[in-house]
Amino acid sequence: MEELNLFSRRDFLGKGSAALGLSSALWSGGCESFYELINNRPTRRNIQELSLSDPIIKTYTNAVAAMKKLPASDPRSWQGQANIHFNKCTHSNWLWLPWHRVYLLYFESICRKLTGDTKFALPYWNWTTHPAVPDAFWNTSSPLYNLTRVASQTDQADPSYIGAGVIQNILNEPNFDLFASKPPLTSDLHSPGLSTTGPLEATPHNNIHGFVGGDMGAFHSPLDAVFWTHHCMLDCLWAHWNMDLGNANTNDPAWVNFAIKDFVDENGSPVTFDVGFTPLLPLTLYQYEPCSLMQGGGQSKITQNKKTLEKFLRDGAPSKLEFVRRFESREPLTAEVGKPVTRAIKVEAGALRDVLEGGPRNRAVLTIADVDIPEKRDFFVRVFAGKPGILADTSIDDPRYAGSFGFFFDETMQMSHAPEPGGTGRPRTGFLVDLTSTLRKLNQAGSLSPEELDVSFVAVPYGQRAATGHLTLQRLELGVARF
Ligand code: C2O
Repeated sequence: MEELNLFSRRDFLGKGSAALGLSSALWSGGCESFYELINNRPTRRNIQELSLSDPIIKTYTNAVAAMKKLPASDPRSWQGQANIHFNKCTHSNWLWLPWHRVYLLYFESICRKLTGDTKFALPYWNWTTHPAVPDAFWNTSSPLYNLTRVASQTDQADPSYIGAGVIQNILNEPNFDLFASKPPLTSDLHSPGLSTTGPLEATPHNNIHGFVGGDMGAFHSPLDAVFWTHHCMLDCLWAHWNMDLGNANTNDPAWVNFAIKDFVDENGSPVTFDVGFTPLLPLTLYQYEPCSLMQGGGQSKITQNKKTLEKFLRDGAPSKLEFVRRFESREPLTAEVGKPVTRAIKVEAGALRDVLEGGPRNRAVLTIADVDIPEKRDFFVRVFAGKPGILADTSIDDPRYAGSFGFFFDETMQMSHAPEPGGTGRPRTGFLVDLTSTLRKLNQAGSLSPEELDVSFVAVPYGQRAATGHLTLQRLELGVARF
């Protein structure tokens, strides 16, 4: 019975229950029922595997209907939940993962309370295996429908940001700051300005928001029921990266000890949740149906013992992303949709040797800095590295393809940072693109120039949209990391 250390009765009834946001009444049956609860924790399932009449879809539909009936002043209402996101969401920094995990947890418990379906678990949208908005969201008379979407039922998200190879590269990131976005640079966690977004957030996360469009394209996105299934997918990938692939979260106290205070429980009472407990949630309160194509293969030894796994999740590890060498290009760049632009970064001969010949913990990371958040976010950006000659339609199967990013922002949000003096007046952000696997591929093929790296950007419209936005950025930095 002593399966998990955390949940010795004393520990649990003390800090644990509060942090896990559970009423102790739930556990009054004692230790045994407590373990039973963990072992029978609900499973968040792949929505595409469910028929439209599945009880999970029914409960979700009923819950959304019930929330839409509550007055907007009630934070448990449909509008109230979206307002929390609009006013408080944290993005472009490493708190976005735990913040949205806790958001999902309480949203799910509100769904349970309002429907009486106490075992309900949110479904997730696996966009890698099903790149169109799932069928459950297209019945125009259902509360799960949202008429602001720009994507149609048959539009498919682009493999540049949700394809199996792209997601696999992200799951291969061995470093938390790279996987989860960097620490916030300001105390204003709600503002994406000046911070640096990692590939999980910049690539599938931001781009699915942009691809679906309408409400999903800005900070009231939880008004579209698709939002919650999108974030469950991201949450599943995070859990998978930790628990199956054996990657540690950061142990930085600024992350572990951060208290999230933005949510209410199923009764509408405000709750506080410590980030340090969030890694344990998929081990204790819910689980996922496999969401990754890497599941099943090459799993970590850590998963084989629950106690070891629990300790691993609680302890975390140092994650600081430090560059031992940096090479820069400070030539500003503007790329119109469909017109590729290339910049060369001068590199000292031999500086990349460890990256090209080293192990998984030697990385070459491109920081795309001081990027204007465009007013028209109707496109995403493909990034290529290596030799020039990239065309608007160069395929992502080209060995030079390194990744993609998109923007997630709300134009009506008050930015607390004044725009850069002498800048374009737009708020700015930054992105990280891991070039390691691309450079290794090119090197093996003998097509990597030793003293110069060409980086190309292609702005691509979402779906069939006639995009008019453009990409503007000030600085590129190639960093050589070892951790
Ligand atoms: Cu805070 Cu994907 O949203």
